[in-house]
Amino acid sequence: MNESTQAAVPAAEEKPAKKPIVFSGIQPTSGSFTLGNYLGAVKNWGKLQDDCNCAYCIVNQHAITVRQNPQELKKNTLSAYALMLACGVDPDKSIAFIQSHVKTHAELAWVLNCYTQFGELSRMTQFKDKSAKHADNINAGLFTYPSLMAADILLYQTNLVPVGNDQKQHLELARDIALRFNGLYGNTFTVPEAYIPQTAARIMSLADPSKKMSKSDENTNATVFVLDPPETIVKKFKRAITDSEAEVVYREGKDGINNLISIYSAVTGLTAEQIQQDFAGKGYGDFKQAVGEAVAEELRPVREKYEQLMKDKAYLEECYRGGADKALHFSQRTLDKVYKKIGFLPYK
Ligand code: TYM
Repeated sequence: MNESTQAAVPAAEEKPAKKPIVFSGIQPTSGSFTLGNYLGAVKNWGKLQDDCNCAYCIVNQHAITVRQNPQELKKNTLSAYALMLACGVDPDKSIAFIQSHVKTHAELAWVLNCYTQFGELSRMTQFKDKSAKHADNINAGLFTYPSLMAADILLYQTNLVPVGNDQKQHLELARDIALRFNGLYGNTFTVPEAYIPQTAARIMSLADPSKKMSKSDENTNATVFVLDPPETIVKKFKRAITDSEAEVVYREGKDGINNLISIYSAVTGLTAEQIQQDFAGKGYGDFKQAVGEAVAEELRPVREKYEQLMKDKAYLEECYRGGADKALHFSQRTLDKVYKKIGFLPYK
C-alpha cells in the first residue's frame, strides 16, 4: 500500500490549488479515548485542518457490531463528540459529525458489500480478533465492518486517512474496493492513502507491552484514558511494566521502555536519541515519573476543554447537526454518482 507519513502533507509553498481531503473516524465506546487513540490518530486531526479539507466522524454504526447498552451508547456518543472537539477538531474548520446522522454511509456500505469478497473480509485480522473475543455474537456486521469503513472514506473522495497502525489493513481493503469499482465503472472514487504517524502509530499496553493499548482491556493499569485525572495518569505510568535492566534506551527486546520512549517522544517532540541522553544514568523510576507528568500535562487542557463543552449541550447539538448537514451535502454527490453508474433507476 502506498502509505503516507506526516511528511506527505504538502508544505505551504508547494500547496496545490486544491487542498487534500482528509477523513477519519473513531468509535464512541466508553465515551473516552485512550492515549493510543489520541497519539496515534486524533491529535493529528486538528493539525491537518489548516492545510486540508477535513471530515471527522464518531462511528456509532461501527460500534454496534459489538453489543452495546442503548443508554450508554447514546451518552458515550455525545461524550466522544465533545472529546473530539476538545482534542482540537474545530467544527468551523472541519466537518465534525456523527455517523448515524448521515444516511449515505449505510447506503454506500450496502453497495460496497456487493463489491467486496468474502475471502477479503475473512482475512481481516480485526475480524478474527473480535470474533474470538465475542464468540457468542459473530454477527454479519462484524464481518462486513470494513465495507462500512470503506464507504465512510470513499464518500468524501478522501485523499488522506489519519489512523493508527491497526487500521492499515482496513485502509488497504478500502483502496482495493475503490480500484475495483473504478476499474468496472470508470473513475468514481479517489483512492485514499493512510496517513500514519512516525512515532506513535502503535501505543502498547502499559501492563503488557506486547499487546496494543485498547479501550476494552480488563486490567485498569493497562490503558491510559484521555479523561483520566493527572494523578491517575502518573500512577499508571509508575506501574508500567518494563524489564529487569536499568537503561533508558530504545532497543529490540525492551518493549516496555520502547513504548514509554515513543509516548514521551510523541508528547515532547524529543527524538529517541535526545531522550536516551537526557536519562543516561537515571533509573526507570525517574523516567516513568517524567513520562507520566508529561502525558498528564499534555492532556490537562483537553480534559478542561471537554468539561467546559459538556456543560453546553445546546452548542454540541448545533455543532453535530451542522456537521451532519455538510457531510450529507458532500457525500450525497458521491452516492448519486455511484447509483447512476451501477444502474439504479433515479427517483426523479
Ligand atoms: P478505533 O475507534 O478503534 O480507533 C480510533 C483511532 O485510534 C487509533 N488507535 C491507535 N493508535 C495507536 N496506538 C493504539 N494503541 C491505538 N488504538 C487505536 C486507530 O488506528 C484509529 O485511527 N474502524 C476504526 C474507525 C473508523 C474509521 C473509519 C477510521 C470507522 N470508519 C474511516 C478511519 C476512516 C476504528 O475502529 O478505530
